[in-house]
Amino acid sequence: MIKQAIIPLAGLGTRLLPLTSVFAKELLPINGKPGIEYILDECIEAGIKEIIFIISKKKKLIKDYFYKDMFYKKIIKKKRDARIIKEYKKILRYKKMIKFVYQNKPLGTGDAVLKTKKYIKDKFFLMLLPDDLIIKKNCSKSMIKIHKRYNSSVMASMNVKKKTVSRWGIYKLAKKIDKNNFLIKDVIEKPAINNAPSNKAVIGRYILPKNIFLKLSKQKPGKGGEVHITDAIQSLINDNHKFIAHNFSGKYLDCGSMQGYIKSSLEIAKI
Ligand code: G1P
Repeated sequence: MIKQAIIPLAGLGTRLLPLTSVFAKELLPINGKPGIEYILDECIEAGIKEIIFIISKKKKLIKDYFYKDMFYKKIIKKKRDARIIKEYKKILRYKKMIKFVYQNKPLGTGDAVLKTKKYIKDKFFLMLLPDDLIIKKNCSKSMIKIHKRYNSSVMASMNVKKKTVSRWGIYKLAKKIDKNNFLIKDVIEKPAINNAPSNKAVIGRYILPKNIFLKLSKQKPGKGGEVHITDAIQSLINDNHKFIAHNFSGKYLDCGSMQGYIKSSLEIAKI
C-alpha cells in the first residue's frame, strides 16, 4: 500500500517572477484555489494518509497557510459565515495530514527527497512535483494501481515534442508492457536534442522505493550542480530495480511557467 506522499516545495519559482517575489508559487490561485490544494486533493483521493512538505525558510508562507487557526476562529466567532467555516474545515483536514521538513539550500530534487528519509515508513512512497498539474483523471491513483499490479516503481510519462527534450527527464524503453505502460531501460536528465534516447518524458509523479535514499546519500551533484532524482533512478535501474513509465490519460498543465500558469486557470475553468 502507498500511504505516504512527499512534495518538494523549496523551489524559488523564478519562471513565475514577479508573482513569486513575495509569494510562494504553490499558493497562487488557479481558478480561485491555490495550486497546492489540487495536488493535495489528488493525494487524498488516491488514498494517501500522510504528506510530507519539503519547504525552505523562504517558503514559510506555505506552512502559515495551514496554521491560521487563531485568525479563522476569531472571524468565525464574529460572523458565522458558512463559506468561511467550510474552507477552514478543509484547511484543518489538510493540516492534520501534513508534516514539514526543510531544505534551505536549493541543491536539487534528489536532495529534497533525501530530507524526508527518516519519515518514510513503507517500502514505497509517492512523490508529486507541484508544478505539474494533471487534471481530469487522477494520475496518482492510476499509478498506484500499476504499482500494485507489478510490484514495481512507477513514473508518470508522456510524449513530448523532440525540440523540447532538454526541458525534461527523458527515458529509453526496454519493453512495452501494455498500451500505456513501459519498462524503462535508461533515463537521462534534460539531454541535448542529439543525445536524447527518445521523446518520452518523465512527468512529476513518481512511486519510488525506499532504497532510493541509499543511492541519494552517496550521489554526487549532476547537471547544473544539482542532485537529480533522475540520476538516482538510473542507478537503481542499473541494479536491476524495475521502473515502469505510465502514460497517464489526464491532461497535463505546466504551472511552473507563466504561460502554463495562465493556461491552467483557463483549462480548469472549462471543467
Ligand atoms: C523535474 C525533473 C525532470 C522531469 C520534470 C517534470 O524537472 O527533474 O526529470 O521531467 O520535473 O516536470 P524540473 O521541472 O524540476 O526542471
